[in-house]
Amino acid sequence: QKATPTYRIGFSQCTNGDAWRQAMLAGMNKELSFYPEVSFRMKDAKYNSALQEQQIKEFLKEGIDLLIVSANETEPVTPIIEEVYNRGIPVVILDRRTTSKLYTAYVGGNNEEVGLMAGNYVANLLGQRGKVLEVLGAPGTSPAVDRHRGFTKALATHPGVQLVGEVNSNWERPSVLARLPAVLRQHPDADLIFAHNDRLALGAYQVCKQLGLSQRVKIVGVDGLPGIHGGIQLVQDGVINATLLYSPGGEEAIRTAMRILRKQPYDKENTLGTLVIDSTNVLIMKLQTEKLTSQQQDIQRQQQLLRQQRDTYASQQTVLYVLAAA
Ligand code: FRU
Repeated sequence: QKATPTYRIGFSQCTNGDAWRQAMLAGMNKELSFYPEVSFRMKDAKYNSALQEQQIKEFLKEGIDLLIVSANETEPVTPIIEEVYNRGIPVVILDRRTTSKLYTAYVGGNNEEVGLMAGNYVANLLGQRGKVLEVLGAPGTSPAVDRHRGFTKALATHPGVQLVGEVNSNWERPSVLARLPAVLRQHPDADLIFAHNDRLALGAYQVCKQLGLSQRVKIVGVDGLPGIHGGIQLVQDGVINATLLYSPGGEEAIRTAMRILRKQPYDKENTLGTLVIDSTNVLIMKLQTEKLTSQQQDIQRQQQLLRQQRDTYASQQTVLYVLAAA
């Protein structure tokens, strides 16, 4: 016997095609398992803002009590999110922002802070002298805009370090493989590449390697995911010099959503912290995240056991009823 859902949460995801988004979803599902009264649906907009708008309209038609949304691009997705909010449906913005103040709560990193921290770290790593290239996330997405703003702000305070070139990407590695070689050939004396995520940073490394520059050019990424293809491993393997931690925030998003739905107090801005992961702390980060992963797996196993016991109990109850009726 399943309890009828009391709350319907719709999650409009800009893409679900990478490990960072999948970690976000895994975090949400883990947290959701504590709230059996919730029905949760995700729609994947596959990096398409028009599709995302359409999917949010579908949510409105189907009926939702709260929307969680990561806006693919800031401008095009803002009006429909405002409409949801104006209909009295709470909106939790997760990671990628809109241009509007009309939302109930934000959960995610402070991307200007990520850029600032990266800029100061880079300047120190280069001993206050050097030429830097930046590989940006997709134009019109809030983390790319904010990371760039923070990065250039920080570099402005280190006059010996110059940003000599910028490359736009679509957040995915193939776009770096296609566009970075030409820019690197223009700036063969570049000392460091700051890439807006670790997938882009890996692409930058591959380009440097092809051009015979990988010994000299330093690389810094963002995300710092655990796991075999994650940023922590890239730092440990010396593929990149450092990455800025940027947490997916799936658990926190669900927790905030539940507080809103249950009319409990909540914060409008829920900022997740960042830190630099480099050779000095990568081992401890790796051990910590591995421990977390194994604890999460334990929780999942226990939840499965509980479900099995509940099912066994339910079928025994049925037997008792049948016997009593006989
Ligand atoms: C994942 C991702 C991350 C990045 C974030 C920015 O889809 O590209 O790598 O930090 O989105 O929104």
